[in-house]
Amino acid sequence: MRLGGLLLQDIAKQYGTPLYVYDLDRIRTRCEQIAGNLKKITPKSRAFFAVKALGNLSILKLIHQSGLGMDVVSGGEIERCLAAGVVANDIVFSGVAKTRAEVELGVKVAISCFNIESPHEVDLLMDVTKSHPKKIKVALRINPDVDGLTHKKINTGPADTKFGLNPNLAMELSKKILSCQTLELSGLSCHIGSQILDLSSFRAAAAQVRDFAEELIKWKAPIQHIDMGGGLGVAYKPTDLEKVPSFEDWISVSKLARPHDAIDLHLEPGRSIVADSGVLLTTVLDIKQTESKTFALVDAGMTELVRPAMYDAYHHIEPILAKNGYETARFDVVGPVCETSCWLAENALLGHIARGDVLAVMHAGAYGMSMASHYNTRPKPAEVGIENQTTRLIRKRETTCSLWQAEEL
Ligand code: LLP
Repeated sequence: MRLGGLLLQDIAKQYGTPLYVYDLDRIRTRCEQIAGNLKKITPKSRAFFAVKALGNLSILKLIHQSGLGMDVVSGGEIERCLAAGVVANDIVFSGVAKTRAEVELGVKVAISCFNIESPHEVDLLMDVTKSHPKKIKVALRINPDVDGLTHKKINTGPADTKFGLNPNLAMELSKKILSCQTLELSGLSCHIGSQILDLSSFRAAAAQVRDFAEELIKWKAPIQHIDMGGGLGVAYKPTDLEKVPSFEDWISVSKLARPHDAIDLHLEPGRSIVADSGVLLTTVLDIKQTESKTFALVDAGMTELVRPAMYDAYHHIEPILAKNGYETARFDVVGPVCETSCWLAENALLGHIARGDVLAVMHAGAYGMSMASHYNTRPKPAEVGIENQTTRLIRKRETTCSLWQAEEL
């Protein structure tokens, strides 16, 4: 099996496993596709990459150089972006429960916009900016009460989630912001969830945001952009490929949220930029049989890729070297962590595999490494990028002793 034109078995041999490998050329292509399509709406319409999906500095640098801004949800992510060479004016700050220190950091480095999630956040921003010489741009995140039609743990569109503002409350806050000397209501934002394949949810959310924006314009709000968030899904199952909307389709629905054509459209894609560019390589350590199951015990698990344990997510798994024989053999692919939930695939058709074989866990580029943990005192894996058919180590494998560096005896 190849990625970015190179044989994965050579990469596994050179860098060891567990290992994340990314096709950087593919990531650049995805960025150029979305940026190009958004520019057709208005010259300033653009995408902000959701840093939480994959935060490696080298990859953020590449994505920024490919024309995307960054969507962050913590002070840590602001600092991560700056460390990657992203200019602060290309950063938008989303996310609930921003601390005063995080807001101060955003104001100090002059990020481009704060996406506001609560009445307290308006007060906090007013207080932090009270003696600020320049107006700070803010957008109100509308909760459209729309079902994202996705897994409930990543559905943020319904009214009873912690995300966004109910439109009546958002209207009150708009008036407060409009009368504030230091804040400028430059836009609206919305994000209804993640791994969404059905455009009807995006369409319903766009209609809600548009209604709200039209109301706001009556109040002479100087809005310049509508940010419709991220959420476009990918084909984790090969059979889902034709269900995945293109960037063009997603944009054509999202742009319906704009009350008129001069307003810029912003999007915050994460998964759809990086998921299919990354694989997680893992080695089979043991094969274990019970009465009804055969387990392939591998050297990666919920610590490296938590999505199956957390959301019962499907990731397609294939041996990187296909062998003949036992084509119908099925395995539960499970990791070493002491939890029954530490699994990567159930009943996967892997053919003849044995100890020492390397498996590729597909579509691991998004919410893979960024959600990795140290549970069971497991160092995080290395990350390798492939560009122009050449590999580059973009994150060293962690050493075990680094895991207790902050601890005291
Ligand atoms: N914007 C906001 C405000 C978000 O909360 C998110 C994701 C995004 C953009 C990017 O969404 P995307 O385009 O990647 O779907 N850990 C979960 C996904 C959590 C998504 C959280 N918010 C998973 O592994 O499926």
